[in-house]
Amino acid sequence: RAGWPGIIHAYADRIQLPAGARVITLHEGGTPLVLAEHLSEVTGCEVHVKVEGANPTGSFKDRGMTVAMTHALAGGVQAVICASTGNTSASAAAYAAKAGLRAAVLVPRGKIALGKLAQAVAHGARILQIDGNFDDCLELAAKTASEYPITLVNSVNPVRLVGQKTAAWEICDVLGRAPDVHCLPVGNAGNITAYWRGYSDYLRDGVVASAPRMFGFQAAGAAPLVRGEPVADPETIATAIRVGSPASWTGAVTAKEESGGLFEAVTDEKIMEAYRLLAATEGIFVEPASATSVAGLLATAADGRLPKGSTVVCTVTGHGLKDPGSALLDMVEVEPVPVDPGAVATRLELA
Ligand code: F0G
Repeated sequence: RAGWPGIIHAYADRIQLPAGARVITLHEGGTPLVLAEHLSEVTGCEVHVKVEGANPTGSFKDRGMTVAMTHALAGGVQAVICASTGNTSASAAAYAAKAGLRAAVLVPRGKIALGKLAQAVAHGARILQIDGNFDDCLELAAKTASEYPITLVNSVNPVRLVGQKTAAWEICDVLGRAPDVHCLPVGNAGNITAYWRGYSDYLRDGVVASAPRMFGFQAAGAAPLVRGEPVADPETIATAIRVGSPASWTGAVTAKEESGGLFEAVTDEKIMEAYRLLAATEGIFVEPASATSVAGLLATAADGRLPKGSTVVCTVTGHGLKDPGSALLDMVEVEPVPVDPGAVATRLELA
């Protein structure tokens, strides 16, 4: 949006920075909150979708990264490091480039979407592919940051979560109230932790009169919070949330319990159904992990756990262009159409 200054300036009164810090921003945040008419009709609720793919690098990670990178630069380090299933590395690479810092990104070999890898390459990050999963990458990144003067910019860095709280504030500012229920995909669990802190801030300060119930959804093959124990070999088509041992486990449980929310698992099949539905009926193209919140919305509406008439916000966390091949193009055949008005009309079922 023209004139939107980025979250640090938009919420200057709520985000503390080191004195004299140079703000590293790509004008992230201020993302659309779109009324989802089809989902509202299907669920009997008023459903809004918070489109985080509209951020500068195409995911919600930019909200945390602007704050983390601003702190890292002010702290005088020359390099940052992160573990990632793809989006954190894309965001860290872009913000490090803007800040003039070196970035190392540790990613699970062969398990990150091509678009995200391309972003890290384009922004000049040092990409280290690990023969292991995200949890192994995070362990190595944390160890490296503890032994060298390198700042860890994963969400275990508390200032990342301060930045991510802004999504909850924006939603309240736009709706003029908090929603009744908030649906999120959950991987490493930083985001659900941050949203709950954001809503709690506004409730405490009297900006809103209530806070939403937090509904956290995980892929069935990578659902440690639902099972109540870490998963050694997480597996899902939604590679962004292929996490077996979430770093913000306690924060997620606090969000669920204090808000009277729930954790639930959804199958890859249901995730892909929601992915197609969102694109085909709402005009919103997201990556598979992001559709997990919508799959969960539909499941809880169908079994009655989502009360009819609720005002619901579903966050869709990343853009569909990051990961188009894996899931979508394998499923459909895109046939070229001969250039002839009749053929076009036939294709549109008009003739
Ligand atoms: N959706 C997308 C598109 C993500 O990239 C992630 C996390 C999540 C949801 C889950 O958020 O971890 O805060 O619970 N991606 C991390 C990464 C793990 O490395 O980019 P979370």
